[in-house]
Amino acid sequence: MAAIALTFLFLYKNTHSSDAQNISVYNGYVTSIYYDQFYVNEVNLISNSSATANVYVIPKSQLSYIPVVLPEKQIDKRNSTFSQRFELYYDRSENNLICNTVCELNFRFELQQNGVVLGCPAQLFLYDNKADLKIFIANEPYGSVGDPVAQTDCLPKTGVVNKTFHLPPNKLYYIGWYVAKNVGYTIWLSANLTRINISGLNEDCSVSSQHTTCPITHTKYPHKKENISLLFNTTSTTMMDVNVTPVLVQWNLQRLTGVSAPSCIGVVVMMVAVFVWFYYCMIRTVAWNGYITIA
Ligand SMILES: *[C@@H]1O[C@H](CO)[C@@H](O)[C@H](O)[C@H]1NC(C)=O
Ligand SMILES: *[C@@H]1O[C@H](CO)[C@@H](O)[C@H](O)[C@H]1NC(C)=O
Ligand SMILES: *[C@@H]1O[C@H](CO)[C@@H](O)[C@H](O)[C@H]1NC(C)=O
Ligand SMILES: *[C@@H]1O[C@H](CO)[C@@H](O)[C@H](O)[C@H]1NC(C)=O
Ligand SMILES: *[C@@H]1O[C@H](CO)[C@@H](O)[C@H](O)[C@H]1NC(C)=O
Ligand SMILES: *[C@@H]1O[C@H](CO)[C@@H](O)[C@H](O)[C@H]1NC(C)=O
Ligand SMILES: *[C@@H]1O[C@H](CO)[C@@H](O)[C@H](O)[C@H]1NC(C)=O
Ligand SMILES: *[C@@H]1O[C@H](CO)[C@@H](O)[C@H](O)[C@H]1NC(C)=O
Repeated sequence: MAAIALTFLFLYKNTHSSDAQNISVYNGYVTSIYYDQFYVNEVNLISNSSATANVYVIPKSQLSYIPVVLPEKQIDKRNSTFSQRFELYYDRSENNLICNTVCELNFRFELQQNGVVLGCPAQLFLYDNKADLKIFIANEPYGSVGDPVAQTDCLPKTGVVNKTFHLPPNKLYYIGWYVAKNVGYTIWLSANLTRINISGLNEDCSVSSQHTTCPITHTKYPHKKENISLLFNTTSTTMMDVNVTPVLVQWNLQRLTGVSAPSCIGVVVMMVAVFVWFYYCMIRTVAWNGYITIA
């Protein structure tokens, strides 16, 4: 009987480890990983830093977002006297643009010709990692640009051009700029972003350097079948890399009866009944044996 009950459990609760992912966690921002179609049973975490990151496991319906509009700002204005490549910053102190769920960057370029301009007058590249940005800069003025996530076409020698990029979330973006000799330019940037609002949410665990298994205290199984996100935040001033391996669980309701979710209540009741009946039989058997011994 126990074997039958266990077979039921084994068949209808599929547990498997999802692939590991590395994510970067920055001070002041919430990083998220989204999982489809599964409940997360536990999460194994390894950080490359001794600083602490808090971890939240949140059903999709509980996520709320804070819109962040970065107003248009002049990020550079120069007359180029030689062909060159370099990094542009949105903000001298913050340096980089971190995107969460909505990630829209709007650039406005104004160019003038100050003499003979050969080849491409100017071009902007966006990178999601420093290694490719380094390749872009190291090969100035015309060599490999590495692997940008997005770029403009060559901009016209004179006039104003607007360009909007929609970029994948949870990345830190770097801006590479190429400008030819004899080009005068001004660049403005505005951004339309959202950030996940974690205020009021309960964290499930925290991670620092050593391997941690996050028990998930708050949202082990959402009250309804729902996709979930893992959120991370830190107060560390240096960037942290966290290696994330969730153990995922899916209850195979369809396989149980061939019908939809509400029937699972019936099945759970049935399974509980089987267990109770089995347990009751054991107790009775032991009691009966005991009675015989005493007798
Ligand atoms: C995560 O980072 C670790 C250490 O840097 C590396 O060994 C591992 O291969 C990375 N895993 C993935 C999935 O990128
Ligand atoms: C660039 O050159 C133009 C024309 O020579 C001049 O009017 C402008 O002030 C210069 N801009 C900068 C930023 O030096
Ligand atoms: C470019 O953007 C500016 C402000 O962001 C706007 O005033 C202008 O009309 C836009 N130009 C074009 C060609 O879309
Ligand atoms: C920001 O993006 C949202 C969603 O795409 C849009 O509704 C809103 O108008 C945008 N706001 C600005 C200032 O561009
Ligand atoms: C963030 O969430 C909290 C709790 O739900 C709410 O009180 C607060 O207004 C939210 N903040 C913003 C900026 O939406
Ligand atoms: C989970 O997300 C996937 C893909 O976005 C969607 O197809 C599916 O319906 C979602 N499941 C639930 C229970 O919301
Ligand atoms: C994460 O954010 C919450 C809410 O803002 C804050 O209380 C907590 O200290 C933060 N944790 C870390 C490790 O930064
Ligand atoms: C952890 O990884 C981040 C991002 O890759 C890196 O900037 C940081 O220096 C690493 N920290 C340590 C202690 O290796």
